[in-house]
Amino acid sequence: MSFKTLDDLPQDLTGQRALVRVDLNLPMKDGQATDLTRVTAVAPTILELADRGAKVLLLAHFGRPKGERNSTMSLSYVLGDVERVIEREIMFIPEITGPVVEQSVGILSDGDIGILENTRFWPGEEANDPEFARAIAENGDIYVNDAFSAAHRAHASTEGLAKLLPAYAGRAMEKELKALDAALGTPNPPVAAVVGGAKVSTKLAVLENLSRQVQHLIIGGGMANTFLAANGVNVGKSLCEHDLTDTARAIMDAADGAGCTIHLPYDVVVAKEFAANPPSLRTCNVHEVAEDEMILDVGPQAVEALGDVLKTCATLVWNGPMGAFETPPFDEATVALAKTAAALTQAGALTSVAGGGDTVAALAHAGVTDDVTYISTAGGAFLEWMEGKELPGVAALSA
Ligand code: 3PG
Repeated sequence: MSFKTLDDLPQDLTGQRALVRVDLNLPMKDGQATDLTRVTAVAPTILELADRGAKVLLLAHFGRPKGERNSTMSLSYVLGDVERVIEREIMFIPEITGPVVEQSVGILSDGDIGILENTRFWPGEEANDPEFARAIAENGDIYVNDAFSAAHRAHASTEGLAKLLPAYAGRAMEKELKALDAALGTPNPPVAAVVGGAKVSTKLAVLENLSRQVQHLIIGGGMANTFLAANGVNVGKSLCEHDLTDTARAIMDAADGAGCTIHLPYDVVVAKEFAANPPSLRTCNVHEVAEDEMILDVGPQAVEALGDVLKTCATLVWNGPMGAFETPPFDEATVALAKTAAALTQAGALTSVAGGGDTVAALAHAGVTDDVTYISTAGGAFLEWMEGKELPGVAALSA
């Protein structure tokens, strides 16, 4: 796909008002943001636009206030975090349209930064109401979208505005779209996909799409149990969606027809209880799982074989952990495979792109965050992209 970037704008943006959609939906605990990755991701775009002379007006959602003002979800909560990361002062504007915004923008000097209140306080945002979008657009000359992680939402600030103002991808969006294109759009084959996580039901569309796109589909986590059960394996008391074994069978048949090899574990780490280092811990062949045992990780032999598969591939896309990685020692398969992927990437043999849900935490736990080609911090948007869906926020940027 082609889209305009900040390089398509004149170098000098003095006098331009830039409405910049960012994702400041930060994970919070006790009123404090616990991870500022999303802020660091958009900092280059904010600073570049400000340094080129634009008045930068940030637009973002925070939580799900469902079209009403909710003081617990004000963007004023994350204002300090953004100021600390970009090391500039930001004016907080408690509205999104109307005279207060107009006056505030009038007070800002060229190169200054303001942040408008949570877009989702107004019903027009999620309804993608053209009138609401038009009212926001009155305070902007250009629109920049730097929020890939919100691009699966067709909302006024993610999609509607792109139709009303000259629209550009911010630096984070540009990086994300290039990385995703290298992973699944126009990848170098052979391509491997690692899909893990608890349930097949949450990733059916991902598995179906990938089985048509990649040459190797490595299935781990709880969802592998459903596939093993579909192959007639007794998975004991493992997490398993028995009602989805026919679906798993259909995915395996479709993959077969499309020339995609599905890799399931043939040895596994099991225990009778789910706890850290339980006394009943053992490694066995998948056909030797006892009735009272549960599979909690992929076994070491399978991990080695999967590493060998990665060595034959040029591209890897990864979503979801291989085992119950938050509880030792069920993190071992995820850590070992992540390290292999990182080493191959560092050797220049593999382009590796990861994202979605637990994946960022799993790769951080493996200590490879800086050694893979790209990690997306998007959750739902990354999954929808893996499903092969067009993301409205991205489509609206297409030139
Ligand atoms: C996210 O946190 O994944 C994005 O900000 C989207 O949030 P939403 O799921 O509430 O639309």
